[in-house]
Amino acid sequence: MDWGMQNRLNRIIRPETGRTVMLAVDHGYFLGAMSRIENPATTIEPLLPHCDALMPTRGVLRTSVDPATDTPIVLRVSGGNSIAGPNLADEGITVDFEDAIRLNVAAVALSIYVGTNYENQTLLNLSELVNNGQTYGIPVLAVTAVGKELEKRDARYLKLCCRIAAELGAAFVKTYYCDDFEQVVAGCPVPVVIAGGPKLKTELDAMKMAHDAISRGAAGVDMGRNIWQSDFPVPMIRAVREVVHNNATPEEAHELFRQLKSEARKETAKI
Ligand code: 5RP
Repeated sequence: MDWGMQNRLNRIIRPETGRTVMLAVDHGYFLGAMSRIENPATTIEPLLPHCDALMPTRGVLRTSVDPATDTPIVLRVSGGNSIAGPNLADEGITVDFEDAIRLNVAAVALSIYVGTNYENQTLLNLSELVNNGQTYGIPVLAVTAVGKELEKRDARYLKLCCRIAAELGAAFVKTYYCDDFEQVVAGCPVPVVIAGGPKLKTELDAMKMAHDAISRGAAGVDMGRNIWQSDFPVPMIRAVREVVHNNATPEEAHELFRQLKSEARKETAKI
């Protein structure tokens, strides 16, 4: 891999552990102002020091992220769909590569929709980005999206999607955690990170999922709702970091979460 590409990837996937905690805040590109991210700046600001990379859209990046940040940006560059529209899979590339460079991104991200009517379109989107990325040394993150069909999240399907993404040149892939996740990782020659998916019942459940994914070969998480929809987002991301970077068990991470939560409550009581 060329130096620039490798250097950018090393800023995202920490060389010390080979893992990453990415914070996904791109949801608004098709879901609008979701609960707890209505004001992106307020949601992002306290979490930014605790993530290895941030995944926003360019609109949120320009309006709601402090340009003084050192945190690498993995820019969402696909869209053109909405939850109210006819088909979530019908995505195009939304950002000129030159604008991504102007924004000093560490990587660009887009969704692919394998097995849908838009498979060809979204896989060619990926290929176009990889071609541009190779020219400028910018890695591409492929997101194996399932749209509204959450039941598609099984190992056979996700293994297919991840492998295709890697074959087309994605430098890393984001997918969902599933049973037999190690098979998804085994079939994919580039690092795989997991999305959190819809908010789980408890914080401990999200820590268990992160732990299971890491122990089955994931290179980290790119989590959104399970962090910023928690009542205690900073304790939550710090606990997830313990799982990802320090191999904490879910119970150890949850104990840290409880401690940090109680400290946060005391701080709020002082105000
Ligand atoms: C949408 C995305 C989101 O960034 C992704 O789903 C991660 O967020 P969450 O953990 O909330 O699922 O890529 O296609």
